[in-house]
Amino acid sequence: MRLLSNVAPLRCRVRLARLYSTGTSGVVNVMGKDYTRDHLTNITPTIISKLSRKLYNQPGHPLSTLRALIESHFADYAHLSSVSPIVSPAQNFDGLSFPADHPGRSPTDSYYINKHTMLRTHTSAHEVEVFARGTARYLLTADVYRRDEIDASHYPVFHQMEGARVVSADSTGMAELTADNARLRAELARSPIVIDDIPHFDARTNPHQPEHDPAHAVALAENLKLSLNGLLLKLFGGRANLGGDAEGGEPLRVRWVETTFPWTAPSFEAEVLFRGEWLEILGCGVVRQKTLENANVPDKLAWAFGLGLERIAMILYSIPDIRLFWSDDPRFAAQFAQGEISAFRPYSRYPACYKDVSFWRPDVAGGTRAMHENDFCDLVRDVAGDLVEDVTLTDEFEHPTTKRQSVCYRINYRSMDRSLSNDETNALHAKVVSELKNQFGAEIR
Ligand code: DAH
Repeated sequence: MRLLSNVAPLRCRVRLARLYSTGTSGVVNVMGKDYTRDHLTNITPTIISKLSRKLYNQPGHPLSTLRALIESHFADYAHLSSVSPIVSPAQNFDGLSFPADHPGRSPTDSYYINKHTMLRTHTSAHEVEVFARGTARYLLTADVYRRDEIDASHYPVFHQMEGARVVSADSTGMAELTADNARLRAELARSPIVIDDIPHFDARTNPHQPEHDPAHAVALAENLKLSLNGLLLKLFGGRANLGGDAEGGEPLRVRWVETTFPWTAPSFEAEVLFRGEWLEILGCGVVRQKTLENANVPDKLAWAFGLGLERIAMILYSIPDIRLFWSDDPRFAAQFAQGEISAFRPYSRYPACYKDVSFWRPDVAGGTRAMHENDFCDLVRDVAGDLVEDVTLTDEFEHPTTKRQSVCYRINYRSMDRSLSNDETNALHAKVVSELKNQFGAEIR
């Protein structure tokens, strides 16, 4: 008896392993190049198909207008936008001093091509290389990739803009910042903006770097905030109250808060009051000297920021679902003109249809870990693409003796362009179920 029960699952596992399309052997072709698969490989065909879309270059697309608006605020910066999304974990994490156990490194959160190669999870992945080239001021626009849940505001690909300014760590650099700060301060004082600021550093909660003269740290942090206050005014000024309770013509309200990033100190987030709600818009800080040393420019000082374009565009254009940015439907694209921010007019809301699937949570990644919600969401995206609106975990329990975990997910299918027929939804769902069995050996309940 014992022998049999030991042998049976083994045989079963061998048979299933051959079926796995996400196996650990062979190669995966990404942007025309073959990469050897390994235990970290988790990039999917759906993600690979997004790699060259460049939505921010499509004239009239909200992401393109927003990008141009931000570039116009930083007119004398280098505008970079054709940097490959394929990076090394060293670029994405190590060069920016991410700790070894940072959750962002996990293959449940990031897309790996293999252990040496991944898709950037943020535009900061290019900071070290751009600093190393000696570029003193730049904006970098790019697609970034994160494994995530499925709902109206999460998509595994989104777009960020990174901005940075470098000055020399001497009196010339300080004179440059001081003059610029005086000019920007005077400009903002004349503008319809109310800024709820915090100290440029706080020895206890948001310290400057030990390498920095406190006066330099202040000049840098102030220059960073002043530059970004101006940007926020350009983006949200005169638009923040539209449709809200407050009367138009009120000044924009910006609020600064302390935060932490592995490669900046002090670090901040900026929020704007939009229709009565404080919305987090960007992260930024004074770049750590370690980062500048990694770029071989230890005698420089820098600040940097990063912002997510979809989040801002959804607010400014009243776009209710992040999938719309990827829509080829002319009813979406034809609404927008390059350079103009206008409210999205929903053209229709087609019926949704949900289906449940319950299964014993299988092992993934060559049996090294249990299936994560993001693994399931990637499978659903590979089958149903943008026809899936959201996925929610509706039930979960652990069998008291076997300790196996059972999960139930509800998948909400809805097209943004047309009505899905029952047959079509059933076929999609049947494919999700069969892929769960084929790729992961999942036992459906
Ligand atoms: N990369 C950060 C993110 O994705 C945003 C960010 C924060 C960029 C601080 C920066 C920075 O350059 O200094 O959340």
